[in-house]
Amino acid sequence: MAQKDPNHDDYCLEQYKHQFQVDLLQGRVAFITGGGSGIGFRMAELLMRHGCHVAIGSRRRDKLQESAQRLSAATGRECLPIQMDVRKYDSVKNAVEETLQKFKRIDILINSAAGNFLCPAASLSSNAFRTVIEIDTVGCYNASRAVYDAYFKDNGGCIINISATLHYLGQPLQVHAGSAKAAIDAMTRHLAVEWGPNNIRVNCIAPGPIEGTVGMRKLGGLMLEGSPEVKDKMMSYIPLGRMGTRTEIAESAVFLASDLSSYITGAVLVVDGGAWLGGGGGPMKSML
Ligand code: HXC
Ligand code: NAP
Repeated sequence: MAQKDPNHDDYCLEQYKHQFQVDLLQGRVAFITGGGSGIGFRMAELLMRHGCHVAIGSRRRDKLQESAQRLSAATGRECLPIQMDVRKYDSVKNAVEETLQKFKRIDILINSAAGNFLCPAASLSSNAFRTVIEIDTVGCYNASRAVYDAYFKDNGGCIINISATLHYLGQPLQVHAGSAKAAIDAMTRHLAVEWGPNNIRVNCIAPGPIEGTVGMRKLGGLMLEGSPEVKDKMMSYIPLGRMGTRTEIAESAVFLASDLSSYITGAVLVVDGGAWLGGGGGPMKSML
């Protein structure tokens, strides 16, 4: 039987050492788009390990059900799998209603659903560009708006968006995803300003390269895994010299979801080992 690898597949950690108090999020409820896989799955797991019940939503019903079973078995908290498409407002609205019926509250929304592939702008069709904008940016808006209308407007809450660092230096082959994520950074600030008076905090995590994820595989991760020389070269551009883990992103999400960050809103927390700065320094870098 194949080995379970929680750093590369959607299995829960066999052991977890709590860095925060174990009951940090006791009794709270999170709704996580894209929560059935990758970074979203690990965020669901760590929120649950800190006391949350969680609803996870995406398109693949079987995948969601399998993930929900694993998450509940590992953490002892409830996980509700909901099939939905973030591009369709009514689908998201129904998923939010189902979550509220089950848990009676939502405290935390995490927008992790996304789609991506490598493609030069000169070959990218208009529909391909639109598809990624619709999943990432419109999806983020749809979920934020649906949760706001149904619950946060009157009860307050916390939104954590997941963007990226692609747009900081204009990474090639990524005009679609970079544009979508730049808009998510902007949305984070706009909604933080408009919804702050409703006691809603809106923040964003911008992950760098995270090992073992679909996102990384799509951006050449397989090439890195197959070639130690290419990997060493790539890692030399990252100040901390390595890729990040899903757990490191999830612990940042636990922080932003909790009262530890009660005065933080409108922030984009870059969690990338300094990767986006790595290309900086220019010729002076060789003098280090
Ligand atoms: C060029 C492509 C393409 C590719 C699809 N298209 N793949 N164009 N290169 N590799 C084009 C299609 O030809 C079509 O345009 C349009 O995009 C829509 O494609 P569909 O297959 O119909 O879309 P859909 O079934 O909705 O699938 C969406 C998807 C898919 C994004 C293409 O990959 C997906 O569902 N992804 C979800 C999982 C995922 O990508 N996870 C990674 C997230 S990581 P035409 O013109 O032909 O109609 C991430 C990382 C960020 O976001 C930063 C990392 C550092
Ligand atoms: P992933 O496992 O593919 O996660 C993306 C999730 O989005 C999947 O669970 C997918 O599930 C869901 N999804 C896609 N389209 C959807 C739609 N239309 N409606 C609802 N759900 C949809 O990839 P990941 O690498 O962990 O990425 C997670 C997040 O981190 C993304 O926002 C990504 O942009 C961001 N990020 C990742 C990295 C990295 O190195 N991996 C770096 C920077 C940022 P279904 O297919 O079931 O719908």
